Parts: sequence; structure tokens; C-alpha cells
Amino acid sequence: LYGPRRRNARGVNLNIRSHYDPLMEQMAGFMEKTYTARPLLAFEVDDNASSTHAVTCPFDRRQRLGSIQWVTAEQTARALDAAWAAFPDWDATPATERAAILRRFADLLESHMPELMTLCSREGGKLLTDGVDEIKEAVDFCRYYAMRAEDIFAEPIELPGPTGESNTFEMGGKGVFAAISPWNFPVAIFCGQMVAAAVSGNTVLAKPAEQTSLIAHRVVELLYTAGMPRNVVQLLPGDGETVGSVLTGDPRITGVAFTGGTDTARVINRALAARENAPLPTLVAETGGLNAMIVDSTALPEQVVVDVIQSAFQSAGQRCSALRVLYLQEDVADRVIEILTGAMQELRVGDPRDLGTDVGPVIDEDAKAQLQAHIDALTDEGRLIAQTPLDETITQHGTFVAPAAFAIDGIDALASEKFGPVLHIVRYQADELDQVIDAINARGYGLTFGVHSRNATFAEDVARRIRAGNVYINRNIIGAVVGVQPFGGQGLSGTGPKAGGPNYLQRFASEKTVTNNT
Ligand code: NAD
Ligand code: ALA
Repeated sequence: LYGPRRRNARGVNLNIRSHYDPLMEQMAGFMEKTYTARPLLAFEVDDNASSTHAVTCPFDRRQRLGSIQWVTAEQTARALDAAWAAFPDWDATPATERAAILRRFADLLESHMPELMTLCSREGGKLLTDGVDEIKEAVDFCRYYAMRAEDIFAEPIELPGPTGESNTFEMGGKGVFAAISPWNFPVAIFCGQMVAAAVSGNTVLAKPAEQTSLIAHRVVELLYTAGMPRNVVQLLPGDGETVGSVLTGDPRITGVAFTGGTDTARVINRALAARENAPLPTLVAETGGLNAMIVDSTALPEQVVVDVIQSAFQSAGQRCSALRVLYLQEDVADRVIEILTGAMQELRVGDPRDLGTDVGPVIDEDAKAQLQAHIDALTDEGRLIAQTPLDETITQHGTFVAPAAFAIDGIDALASEKFGPVLHIVRYQADELDQVIDAINARGYGLTFGVHSRNATFAEDVARRIRAGNVYINRNIIGAVVGVQPFGGQGLSGTGPKAGGPNYLQRFASEKTVTNNT
């Protein structure tokens, strides 16, 4: 399912260049291309009605990639009218036909890999290797949900009973879903939410993140090419609060599939709850994490460091699954920190389109400023353990943050998720394990978690006691595979169900029992 993985502490796989050479040639044609994009709605939009926003590249803000028109509040309301009207017919469309569109879409995503990878890099700042993973994950979502939909939304099931009546049980769509997505997986999560809602019989208003709307636009164009009707899925690029409040305040929205920050999920939850005379909505929220890893004294330091580097710094730490707090048992702490410090000196921060780069830019100035303020505060407190050097000649025009590792006293020291390449390290004594587990659980997030130990009983016991959605033993804690490692958290990290898991589509579905005494 996945492309080449990075294997050593520098994050370089020796075969990577030859593997990517053919793709690089195909990508060349898209490196200079400029894009103009606008809302993709069921009706024609007046070009002069909405504001246009320039899109530049995170690794070099002097490079202009194109422009995007944002949707207006009036257009959003009209899009809702169209989605509402389209629902009954789409819901009545056989699941096999809906699934066939997803499969054609998956094929198109694959065949457009060079263009989409280039866009991920130029608009989202992603490394090319991350771009391959991202698009393959989107493809996996489409094929997996197509397969699940054909099973779940098949013909009504007859349920014979003792009363002589006939009983049938059937599943269908719920109505209109808003699919609100983040910038950090602008293809995979954007597609996953959108196609899950649509294949379940709902009509969809897809609201991409402001930072990655051009990619979203290109992806929805491909979805239309695959046969998705324009009134079933519409694209509403725009400001989160403006578009979000129109959508979440409207009683015709039956459900929201949201991925993003925990605070934004709370805003959406409040807006949905405040609607008068509206049906009780479904909220599927996949949110942030303060993910931890516990390393005991039996762990192999070299393997720990490889997995920590990947977990904390791959994708510039901009994964909800990324490692934020590393707990090292005292006996092994010095050795792990020594190797980690060396490995961090070797990481190369730079242009994400260069295969030699290990860590690309963060998404924008806001993200950089927030991370830098956190880094500066911890550095001023004398807590810096290691930091990757930046080559200013490469990074000066982009939004780069040097990977850094700091000593902290415990997970409680972090008031919120730090969404970038910043690792926090806590040393603990063997007899403090219970307090460590209690502190991680009490912090309230529950997305990913890792444990490294050669003592299987220890590792399995810790894994059992930690309340997190995805627990990894003796490996990195990122890159869950669709259909194999269903992904999603608990508590502050999300409502469930798990994306890419067997129960995901059911949350987008209504259930109906018909009892017939004729
Ligand atoms: P964000 O919460 O700022 O934005 C997410 C989306 O919500 C965007 O499309 C934004 O425009 C929209 N939005 C903003 N305000 C809104 C409002 N008032 N009403 C409706 N929509 C609104 O998150 P982000 O910065 O784009 O993404 C990073 C966050 O996403 C991190 O916290 C990360 O952990 C989380 N994330 C979670 C998962 C997961 O599966 N659990 C996956 C990826 C990212
Ligand atoms: N599914 C993504 C991962 O596991 C977020 O890294």
C-alpha cells in the first residue's frame, strides 16, 4: 500500500532516488504551473461576487502558485439548497453505482499522482515521499469505503420473527453533510471524509482548509471526472469561521465530519447544538493529540531513535499522530539522548521537492510564530537538549522551524498541542511508571501512543493501560494504514468512529426497520 519508507536515523532510504526518478520527470511539468480555482458548486458562480486570495509556497513565499476564490455566505446558502434537493435521488442511487464512482476516482488519483504530489509540495510544503503516502492513503480510503458501502448499503435484510409479520432492516443516507478538513492531509483526509459521506448516500458540502484549497479544487475536479454529480459534492473554499458558521448554523445540515483542532471541534459542537428546531446532528470529530511514548531500560536505543525521529519530525511534526512527549527510563535516557542528538544534527531542513531533504517547512507564518514562541520560551528556561541546524541560505524565504528537543517535567507542562517539529523529553525512574501512565491518561488526549521495550509483558501491560486510539509497540507511531490500522482517538482527540475502519460508514448512515403486518 505504501511507497518506500525511511529507514535510518537520517531518514534516508538508499533506494529512494531511483524509485522517484520516473516520478520526478513527470512532476517537472507541474513545477511551474499556476492554478486559478474557485468554488465548485451545483450552479454557476459570479466571478465578481467573492474575494480572490493569492496562494504562495511555504518553502519560498516569493513563489506564487496561483489564486483561489472564496465562497460567499449567499453562495454557501444556495449550495445548501442544491445539496438538500439532491439528497433523495442520490440516497436512492444503488450503493454499487456510488461505489463505482469512488473506484474510478481512486484510479484517477493514482494516474494524477505526479501533479497531486507536486501540488502537495508546492501548496502544502510536503516532502515528495509524504506526498506519495498521502495520495496512496486517499486511494486506499476510496477503495476501502467503496467495498464497505457495497456491504453495508446492500439490499434490505429480512429479519424473520415469531409474530408472522415481515420485518426488513435497511440502511441509507442521513441528509446533507458538511465535511470540514485540515491542511495537513489535504488529499487523504479531505478525500476520506468527503467520499465516506457521499458513498453512504449523503450529499456533501466540502470545506477545505484555507491553506490547501488549490489541491482540494484539483481533487474535486477529478471526482467530477469520475462521475460524481455536481449537486452531490460541492466545494466551498473559504474562511473557516465564515463558511463554518453558515454551515453549522443551518438546520438542514444533518451531520458534520470534521478533522482539525480540538478547540474548533468545540465551536462546531456548540453551533450545532444551538440550532433551533433542527434535527439532532451527527458530529464525527477527529482532533488533536499530545501523543506520548514510554521507553523502558530494556529498549534498543538505536531503534528507539529511528522511531522517535520519524514520529516526531517526519512531515515537520505536522501530523496529529506525531510524537510530542518522550518518556525515557533513567537507565537508558543518556544513551538515547546521545544518539538522538547526533541524529538531529544530521537532519536536513529545506526544500521539500529535494529528495535529500528530511524536514520541510511548516504550513504558514502563524504556525511558525506559535512554534517559535514555544521554542524560545523553553530555550530561555535552559531546557534545550538538541536542535537541528538551519541553513539560512535555503530557509530564509520560507516558513521553516528547526527540529528541537527539550527537557520538561511531564506532559502536564504542555498547555496545548504543539503542532510542529518539537519533541519534549521526560526522564522517569522505574518505580514512577504508574504515575507516568496516570499523567498521560489524565491529560485527556488519546490519539496515538508508543511503547519501546524488549520485555513483552511490560510492553503489553503498558499498551493495555493507556487510553489511546492507536497504540504502537516497538515501532514509530505515525502512518496508520487504511483498513489495517483504523485510525482515530478518544477523549480530547475525537469522537470516533475510526477512519479507515469497519465502523466508519455507519456513522454517516440512517437505519430503518419496516414491520409489515399485511
Ligand atoms: P483547524 O481546526 O484550525 O481547521 C480545520 C478546519 O476547520 C479548516 O477547514 C478550517 O477552515 C475550519 N474551521 C475553522 N474555524 C471553523 C469554525 N468556526 N467552524 C467551522 N469550521 C471551522 O485545524 P488545522 O490547523 O487545519 O489542522 C491541524 C489540526 O488538525 C491539529 O490539531 C491536528 O492534530 C488536527 N488533525 C487531527 C487529525 C485526526 O485524525 N485526529 C488528523 C489531522 C489533523
Ligand atoms: N493517519 C495519519 C497517521 O497515522 C494521521 O499518521
